[in-house]
Amino acid sequence: MTFDAAAFQQTGDDFCLPLRDLTALTRQSAAVVRAALPAASLRERSGFGYLVAAEAVRTYLREAGLKLPFRTLAHINLKGGVGKTTSVVTCAVRAAQYGFRCAVLDLDSQASASLALNALPEDDTPIFYDVWQKPRELLGPALKRIDSHLYLLPSSLENGLLDSSLANPRHQKKAVAEVCAELARLGFDLVWIDCPPSLGTAVISSICAADEVVVPIGSDPFSHKGLTLTLSEIEAICDTYSLPEPQCRVLFARYDKREKLAAQTLARMDGEYAAYAVPIPVRVSTEFSKALANGETLFHSQRKNPARQDYDRIVRYLLQLDAPFR
Ligand SMILES: Nc1ncnc2c1ncn2[C@@H]1O[C@H](COP(=O)(O)OP(=O)(O)O)[C@@H](O)[C@H]1O
Ligand SMILES: [Mg+2]
Repeated sequence: MTFDAAAFQQTGDDFCLPLRDLTALTRQSAAVVRAALPAASLRERSGFGYLVAAEAVRTYLREAGLKLPFRTLAHINLKGGVGKTTSVVTCAVRAAQYGFRCAVLDLDSQASASLALNALPEDDTPIFYDVWQKPRELLGPALKRIDSHLYLLPSSLENGLLDSSLANPRHQKKAVAEVCAELARLGFDLVWIDCPPSLGTAVISSICAADEVVVPIGSDPFSHKGLTLTLSEIEAICDTYSLPEPQCRVLFARYDKREKLAAQTLARMDGEYAAYAVPIPVRVSTEFSKALANGETLFHSQRKNPARQDYDRIVRYLLQLDAPFR
């Protein structure tokens, strides 16, 4: 089986974008937006109203002037439990609803992103460890379809062996970058990389490949320490490999206003991290664990939820979706 861009044209019963979300983004009436969409791209689903197929959203946004340059975003923090996987998966699902052709690279041997997307690999399913040396041949067939606009390169424990197989610095510089280049060739717009909580070779290779590094943090002192270490490592790695530094962003991925340290973290986002801060903290919500238990994300349901609203704004911010409609 090979993968080609025709796959993005397929429509099925995927998690498409509610029409009302498209009207909210474009600030147009539902009648005006509907008139501009092909009838076949609209479908009614109870509780959601009309849903718009992702490829039709993509065409609509491009015609409105949205640019879709190929981009790689790596979510990195040397500390675990800060929201890397949650933010990768939630952002990728939402971006796919907005019509971006997204690939998630799960590089964590714990395979949390694969689990969250309900796509843990079988024993013989290829993972990054198997494909990085020959992405042109091996990557396309290894991608798992999650949705018309969302594909996954899953992970398993074997990715833990990358530290030895990527020991050569030349390989570290190129491995993830070449996989991303192949994803660009296959027609993807965005790659979201879920990194392990370490400074192993997979993370170094992701830093070399990334246009943007998103560092999720909580309000605990460890995640601030993780942020500082991650930022200085990015600088050192790019210096060593003579690469331009990726754009760094700090995401406050677990904001619980009842926590004492939360106010301090908000103040830091406005102060010392202001140059990097994504200005939308994600409020804590029990919906994340409920959705995970169902093999879903917050964007699979229509239930109103503050964290869902936050992630929608974050995706709009990261991908500059509002730009054509200001
Ligand atoms: N905004 C949030 N509200 C509530 N729980 C969250 C939030 N963000 C993440 N979590 C939970 O925190 C835990 C750790 O998140 P995860 O994304 O796995 O972190 P990491 O990938 O950095 O280890 C998970 O159980 C996840 O469901
Ligand atoms: Mg994780």
